Amino acid sequence: MHTELLQWFRKAGRELPWRKDYSPYSVWVAETMLCQTQVGRVIPRYFLWMRRFPDIFALAEAPLGELLRVWEGLGYYARPRYMRKTAEKVVETFQGEFPKDYNILRGLPGIGHYTACAILSIAYNLPYPAIDGNASRVFARLLDLSLPVETRKAQKMVFDFALSLIRKGEARLVNQAIMDLGALICVPRSPRCSFCPVRQYCLAFQRNTQIIRPVRRVRSLKSAEAVVVFCHRDGQVLIRRRPEGGFLGGLWEFPWKENASPDELIPKDFRDRDSVPELIGEIFHTYCQRRIKARIFFIDVNRETFSSEEYHWEEVNRLDEYPFSSFHRKALRLFREFMVQRRVKET
Ligand code: ADE
Repeated sequence: MHTELLQWFRKAGRELPWRKDYSPYSVWVAETMLCQTQVGRVIPRYFLWMRRFPDIFALAEAPLGELLRVWEGLGYYARPRYMRKTAEKVVETFQGEFPKDYNILRGLPGIGHYTACAILSIAYNLPYPAIDGNASRVFARLLDLSLPVETRKAQKMVFDFALSLIRKGEARLVNQAIMDLGALICVPRSPRCSFCPVRQYCLAFQRNTQIIRPVRRVRSLKSAEAVVVFCHRDGQVLIRRRPEGGFLGGLWEFPWKENASPDELIPKDFRDRDSVPELIGEIFHTYCQRRIKARIFFIDVNRETFSSEEYHWEEVNRLDEYPFSSFHRKALRLFREFMVQRRVKET
């Protein structure tokens, strides 16, 4: 299986920007971006990141706001913070070189099991399986696992099998070959088994169970309702910054709250005015296993009467300069459409 897999990868593997020099820095940046995010979305951010922070020394000195702006839209906003902390530590303690030791890597901020294995195998070519989502699916089918791949038992079976595929000096190739097999051939819904170089070794193919592998773990999403309010005056809106250190800390957002009425969100100074909040639409957003339905409101307010430590007025045209979470980006898109229609109505 090993021979067929590598032959296929040499011919059909993807050319990706982080597959050029395989420096530990570029592997670490790419792998951190790729956790939970698709390759197509990562590529432009990877280029942007590498242009701004070309090496670990540049990253260790970068202002956090700049990191967040490059990262914006990739989600998981603790990651760029951890990355900077790790960069500082690697520069201070290891003279800018990522350690080649699994346990030391795991001790660096934000580096989990997968990322440590990816750095060791892809950058240093050491025998560690790097099993991301695509690879898990491939292994669940190769082994025809009837238990969910997330379970401890399945993870161990997959890890041991993946390790057995790696021969000396070939960890980089084997791990990436499996990832690409998952991305190009062994895809989730309609696997292209007739093109698969290793189908003769695949238990799911032999038993025709590939469609029902991997077995899904049943997880239910909790639902919640929220309200977002765009307080507007003279082409400006109110924004606020999330507290450092908390969930999505340091990102900006529009006033919003779960299970609230728009009135509760409008700063006190504005509440008695004549204008009433106008519903401009709804968005849906899923995060942390919660599905949020948010109603988006607009209100015209009088900014002269308002002052607050928490809030900040900003020109609508300059909002792109701030890092917002995906949820608030969605709300902003709706608000912008609303403003365009409002202008059309006024003319
Ligand atoms: N997904 C996670 N890591 C990857 C890599 N190195 N290449 C392609 N896709 C990936």
